[in-house]
Amino acid sequence: MKKKIIFSGIQPTGSLTIGNYIGALSQWRKLQKKYFCIFCIADLHSLTIYQKKDVLNKNILDILAICLACGISPEKSIIFVQSHVPQHSQLNWILNCFTNFGEMKRMTQFKEKIYLNKNINIGLFNYPILMASDILLYQTNKVPVGKDQIQHIELTRDIAYRFNNIYGNIFTIPEKILNTNGSCIMSLTNPQKKMSKSDPDNNNIIDLFDSDFIIKQKIKNAITDSNYPPNIKYDFKNKPGISNLLIILSNITECSIKKLEQNFKNKNYNNLKESIIDNLCIFLNKLRKKYFFYRNDEKYLKNIMFNGAKRAKKQANITLKKVYDTIGLSFK
Ligand code: TYM
Repeated sequence: MKKKIIFSGIQPTGSLTIGNYIGALSQWRKLQKKYFCIFCIADLHSLTIYQKKDVLNKNILDILAICLACGISPEKSIIFVQSHVPQHSQLNWILNCFTNFGEMKRMTQFKEKIYLNKNINIGLFNYPILMASDILLYQTNKVPVGKDQIQHIELTRDIAYRFNNIYGNIFTIPEKILNTNGSCIMSLTNPQKKMSKSDPDNNNIIDLFDSDFIIKQKIKNAITDSNYPPNIKYDFKNKPGISNLLIILSNITECSIKKLEQNFKNKNYNNLKESIIDNLCIFLNKLRKKYFFYRNDEKYLKNIMFNGAKRAKKQANITLKKVYDTIGLSFK
C-alpha cells in the first residue's frame, strides 16, 4: 500500500527553542518510520521580517544541519528549501484568489503580530495562504505541527474544500498531527504564554544552543508554584509551571508523565529542576555534537538541499499542472 504523505515546515530564523524540537522536530523524526515525509525550510515565510542576505543564507544551512542532527534522514524523506521550488509561489497566487479577506482578518497570529510590530507588510497577512500552498502542493495527508499552527491548518482545509467544491477532487484534505505530550511548550517564567523564539525576554526560552551554565540559570529561575508540601503532578490548569517542566522532562527523557510523577513522589521542586538541568544538558550536548558534524560539511548540506529541491519539484509539478489544467491556464 502507498504510504500516506506527511508535510511540515520550519522557518530559518536563527535560533530554535526546545518548543520547536518537542512540538515539531522530534515528531518529524518519529513519523519517518511510517509515512512518506516531506519537510520544508520555509525561507519565504521568514521574509515577513527583514532578513540580511548573509544571515539568511547562513540560517538556512544552520537549520538544515539541525534537522539532520534531530534525525531527519535525507534518504528516507525529502528535505528542501521552499524558495528552491517556485511552484509554492505559483500556487500561492492561485489560492489567494480562493481565500476571503474576512477569514484572513481572523487569523490570530496576524492579529497578535500587528499588535507588537509597527512595520506590518502584506506578506505577514498572506503568510497562512503560502502555508496552505506548501501543504496542498504535495497532496498531504497529515501535517505535524505545534498548537500555534492549528488555525493555519484549518484555513488550509477550508481553502481546499472550497477549491474542490468548484473543480472536483483536486486537493487532498490534510489533517493536523499534534504531539499529545507537548503540542505547546510554554514560557519558563510565564507558563500562560507560548515559548517562542521571537520572545524578547531570553529567560523565557531554552534555546537549543544555550550553554550548560545558561540552562542551569534558566531552569533554576523557572516558575513553579507555592504548594506546600510541594506536589510534582501534571495539572495544567492549577499547576502550569510544574506541568510545563514535567512535559519538557518527559519529552527529553522519553519517560511518561505518569512514571515521572511516581519517580518524584515526595521529592521537592529543586529535585525536579536538578533532573531537568542534567537531562537537558546531556540531551543538548549530544544534539549539538551531531549538529557541528553536519554543519562543518557545507558541500554535503548543499547537495542535500539541491537534491531535495529536485525531488520536491517533481511532486509539486504534478499538482500544479493539475490545478492549471483545471482552472483553464494551460493549453494542450
Ligand atoms: P515555526 O518556524 O514558527 O515553528 C516550527 C514548528 O515548531 C512548532 N513550535 C512549537 N511547538 C510546541 N511548543 C512551542 N512552544 C512551539 N513553538 C514552535 C510550530 O508549531 C511549528 O510546527 N508557518 C510555520 C512553518 C511552515 C509550515 C508550513 C508548517 C511553513 N509552511 C507548512 C507546517 C506546514 C512556522 O512559522 O513555524
